[in-house]
Amino acid sequence: MANKTLSRTTPYVIALCHQKGGVAKTTTALALAACFAEQGLDTMLIDLDPQGNSTGAMGLNPLTMFHSAADVLLGNGNLVGMSRETGTTRLDIIPANADMLIVDRCLHLRSDFEYVLRDQLQKPGMAHYSLVLLDCPPALGSLATTALTASDLVIIPTQCEYFSMQALKNTLKLVETVRAKTNPALTHRMLVTLFDERIGLHHSSLKQLRKHFPRVVLKTIIGIDSKLRESQLMQQPITHYATHSRAARHYRQLTEELLKYVQS
Ligand SMILES: Nc1ncnc2c1ncn2[C@@H]1O[C@H](COP(=O)(O)OP(=O)(O)OP(=O)(O)O)[C@@H](O)[C@H]1O
Ligand SMILES: [Mg+2]
Repeated sequence: MANKTLSRTTPYVIALCHQKGGVAKTTTALALAACFAEQGLDTMLIDLDPQGNSTGAMGLNPLTMFHSAADVLLGNGNLVGMSRETGTTRLDIIPANADMLIVDRCLHLRSDFEYVLRDQLQKPGMAHYSLVLLDCPPALGSLATTALTASDLVIIPTQCEYFSMQALKNTLKLVETVRAKTNPALTHRMLVTLFDERIGLHHSSLKQLRKHFPRVVLKTIIGIDSKLRESQLMQQPITHYATHSRAARHYRQLTEELLKYVQS
């Protein structure tokens, strides 16, 4: 696929955010980043989670990373300088390391901390990238606020399960707060993940979600596929590890759906 660019001077920024853990934020960030790169778009994945799961799934060890997103958030480096190539063409990563725990605890003490990532993303060197994906931790603290302030679109991966729905309310509250205070242009969408066709509750929850949030729930639904777990274990994007799998197909379909937002 030839290299493509979008008609923008700054990258289109998509955050994956939800208060609840295990809803496929990281899985979606990894798969989307690989799919956008596969489309010929230069893409950067930023691991904002102290757990470092995106970093690990891309074959890097968060424990041995000397530089990380923490340096950028603390003002000790810029994104282009900290970025690393991955085994996937057109996909670079800003890894996480243990310093992200310090950032998580102390970031809010800095004045105007909400804008630190947005300012970095708008630097001229970042024009090289068409897309930036932000993998957020399962919490609604300063890292999530900073990510949402820097984003054009926040995708809220949502499981059709009761606890996920509860945490959804809190996550939507953060979106409203960010929109009111630091990023009025923020768009939000919900993505149904880990959907199991065989479970009746999943179908009824999906119906409820679409009824309550008619324009917000994305059309694409990500079904259960164990190939995703395997691909993370093998430290390869799903599009490489199992290129014809159901999960790869669903995430490519999601990429097509999102390209309409990115190009508008
Ligand atoms: N569609 C899917 N089918 C099967 N397994 C999946 C799917 N999506 C994600 N998983 C698995 O579910 C687990 C949780 O996913 P993931 O780590 O992406 O969630 P997360 O929201 O990033 O979690 P955390 O909040 O802890 O960062 C992982 O083991 C992942 O491989
Ligand atoms: Mg994660």
